[in-house]
Amino acid sequence: MSDLLNDKIKNTKTFTIISHPDAGKTTLTEKLLLFGGAIQIAGAVKSNKIKKTTISDFLEIEKQRGISVTTSVMNFNYNGFNINLLDTPGHKDFAEDTYRTLTAVESVILVIDCVKGVEEQTEKLMNVCRMRNTPVIIFINKLDREGRNPFELLDEIEEKLDIKVKPLSWPVGIGSGFKGVYNIYENTFNYFISNKQKVEKDVETFTDMNDDRLSVILGDSTEKLKKDLELVEGVYGKFELEEYLSGTVAPVYFGSALNNFGVKELLDSFINIAPTPKARETTSGYVDSTDEKFSGFVFKIHANLNPKHRDRIAFLRVCSGKFERNKFYHHVRLDRDIKFANPAVFMASDKKLIEEAFPGEVVGLYDSGIFKIGDTLTEGEKFMFKGIPTFSPEIFKELRLNDPFKSKQMDKGILHLTDEGLAQVFIQYHGNRKIVGTVGELQFDVIQYRLQNEYGVDCKFTPVNYHKACWVIYDDDSDINELLTFRSNNLFKDKHNNLVFMSESPYQIEKAMMNNPKAKFLFNIEYNIETVQEEN
Ligand code: G4P
Repeated sequence: MSDLLNDKIKNTKTFTIISHPDAGKTTLTEKLLLFGGAIQIAGAVKSNKIKKTTISDFLEIEKQRGISVTTSVMNFNYNGFNINLLDTPGHKDFAEDTYRTLTAVESVILVIDCVKGVEEQTEKLMNVCRMRNTPVIIFINKLDREGRNPFELLDEIEEKLDIKVKPLSWPVGIGSGFKGVYNIYENTFNYFISNKQKVEKDVETFTDMNDDRLSVILGDSTEKLKKDLELVEGVYGKFELEEYLSGTVAPVYFGSALNNFGVKELLDSFINIAPTPKARETTSGYVDSTDEKFSGFVFKIHANLNPKHRDRIAFLRVCSGKFERNKFYHHVRLDRDIKFANPAVFMASDKKLIEEAFPGEVVGLYDSGIFKIGDTLTEGEKFMFKGIPTFSPEIFKELRLNDPFKSKQMDKGILHLTDEGLAQVFIQYHGNRKIVGTVGELQFDVIQYRLQNEYGVDCKFTPVNYHKACWVIYDDDSDINELLTFRSNNLFKDKHNNLVFMSESPYQIEKAMMNNPKAKFLFNIEYNIETVQEEN
């Protein structure tokens, strides 16, 4: 392995921040970029969340930020580390996009609002992290607000997120009585001063816990802090790096992103402990990041919402070797060699052409429609990266044409849009009905709008009574005789021709499983490859 490649990998960290909307993801992102010098002032990172769930809001925001592209991947340097922060949509209706981004990172920072605790979206996102044993650092945010007792919050996190926690810092007071955070790792105390605009790299830190000034600041809280720390040590024990790296223990930091408090400790800890690009599983074994030969996969496709330019940008995560501009690479699914003249990387506010990229980095490739999510590029080898799952959607509607002469355009449009991962489409097993499945209502509006504007198709969505899509794996038709005979109305195919049972109720799935004992029913399946991942 070349020294250059080795050095690059050693200093690269690729991660994403996840949270329930409003917990403070955007604010924390911004503060991290400030520390990394990637932006100069607070307020530079536009929130990518959609406060109201209407199509006009969505389009307006897309227009304003031009965004999703420029802020999809943020790259900055901190203490000699090359840090890639992959953004995820702030709106829960786009959660599937977040699930896929999780496949392209090595670790995650999870933000929890100390007032609200663990919320619904946090649980869902953690489930995906657990499936992949992704290391997670937890940041409990908004300590300047009247939040909940920290022990109570930690109990809730352990219970609802099914992960052990290990606090590495500890708050003194909360809300109006918030005095600061004790750094358990370094045995120091950081005194809280409200600071919403600047990056204060030198928060006042006390290294001597017997400092007279500190006694004045802490007053009565000193004794409580001592007791809390004893309890923390007794209950949560010592921090073991291996437990964090294997995804079984999540270190916890407390702070206030808005006030830039606790963020530096979080970042310092992150660069120390977060994993560097690691080996990834493919259809023919593991590929190590230090492998000289280039390989990578597409985890996200971003469409241009301008109907005159149907071009898209495919985001490729480099997994091994060196990616080079204008060099031919093998598109495994299409079995074609392709070169890229204009690969780009994304900085906080703009993009620039790149000549090369290394493991852990993300390259934006201009795509005229040749990519699907999950596609692999290699230097000629014929493997595909594994582990890019499709989950059962949560809401289903039937796509219908208002103008019957546009059926070809509609088929083309919906296939393109689903290639981007915007939704999933299921086509009737014995027929041509098309059911579109999403994780949120907003996508139906977006699809309808885009079919009309980009493909000239006037269509509508009508409600259907399905609640889950379940992929069915079987060896021969006799394994699913009952389904074929009695349940053909529930049988569909996904766009890769996998058989899908659309159930109307949990009871219906149970019954189908009982009556077809040789078949396997799965609630998630991997993109593009035959190997199927078992339901978690
Ligand atoms: P999100 O990306 O996770 O959805 O959350 P975001 O950072 O946009 O934060 C949601 C709201 O919480 C924002 O207020 C933000 O200012 C506030 N916030 C974030 N961190 C802290 C913190 O440490 N303390 C306090 N008190 N508030 C925090 P907003 O009123 O919705 O938006 P804005 O008008 O302030 O931008």
